[in-house]
Amino acid sequence: MTYKHKDLLGLRELSKDEILYFLDSAVKFKELNLKSVKKSDALRGKTVINAFFENSTRTRISFETAAKRLGADAINFSASQSSTKKGETLIDTIHNMEAMKTDIFVVRHECSGSAKFIADNSDASIVNAGDGLGEHPTQGLLDLFTIREHKGKLEGLNVAIIGDIEHSRVARSDIFAMKKFGINVKLFGPAMMMPNRADVFECEIAKNMEDAVRDSDAIIMLRVQLERQGLSTPFPSNREYSKFFGLNKKRLELANYPLVMHPGPINRGVELNSDVADGKCSLVLNQVENGVAIRMAVLDILNKNRENL
Ligand code: CP
Repeated sequence: MTYKHKDLLGLRELSKDEILYFLDSAVKFKELNLKSVKKSDALRGKTVINAFFENSTRTRISFETAAKRLGADAINFSASQSSTKKGETLIDTIHNMEAMKTDIFVVRHECSGSAKFIADNSDASIVNAGDGLGEHPTQGLLDLFTIREHKGKLEGLNVAIIGDIEHSRVARSDIFAMKKFGINVKLFGPAMMMPNRADVFECEIAKNMEDAVRDSDAIIMLRVQLERQGLSTPFPSNREYSKFFGLNKKRLELANYPLVMHPGPINRGVELNSDVADGKCSLVLNQVENGVAIRMAVLDILNKNRENL
């Protein structure tokens, strides 16, 4: 099985085999990244623009690293320093950069559906690096890759996703992908951060933290997304959030020390205590490492697809 599309916009529409193709392709890039010379010429002569209309550390830097390790010219566009500030539209911005013969755009934007909107209006390949409340497919892929690497399988595992489910595109991509592999996904979060129709995900909803973490093979803690709620205090107090929804050593022990994951950035002392974030169960930095390999696989596969379009 291969993946034969121009763009990667989300995991919802992908088959299990298409997802596996990305995961398996990333293995060789992880090996390359462990060498002293981390270089391939798979994308030599190609241009990749990171078009980020929202802030990012991990995703933007890892896509830039991935593109450069594949030999592409990698260019970073920052909306805050661009003519977007003068009122230029999204599609005009993309078309102008496309006129410079860009092959692949990696796009992050606050509007849900923006990556698809761009893909529908551009001949370049589009990778969704996070669209509003939509998806964050490469985070979903790197989360699956990391779990498979540590557990040796995906089928039948129990994964808890805890926190701001409503505003998390990471949660959406994770859920869509995990369900295809027969992973039992349990969700838990504050009532004000759970989707009104959480039932559409067809996941078990836990009653409290203890119920959420029990029997988990992996726990994915989510960041409270202040920027998507238009509120300075989406929860009455951080201390209270930590008490009812945070992961601490006691809860980790109750769950028999599962894998602990977080997409970053972490609100330390809120969703994750530092002793857990930096503890022996934490895979937070492994996720970041694997993110480069996954993004190299995504760029490589889309580039090959372009040559056959
Ligand atoms: N995980 C993630 O998307 O992090 P950034 O916002 O720093 O890219």
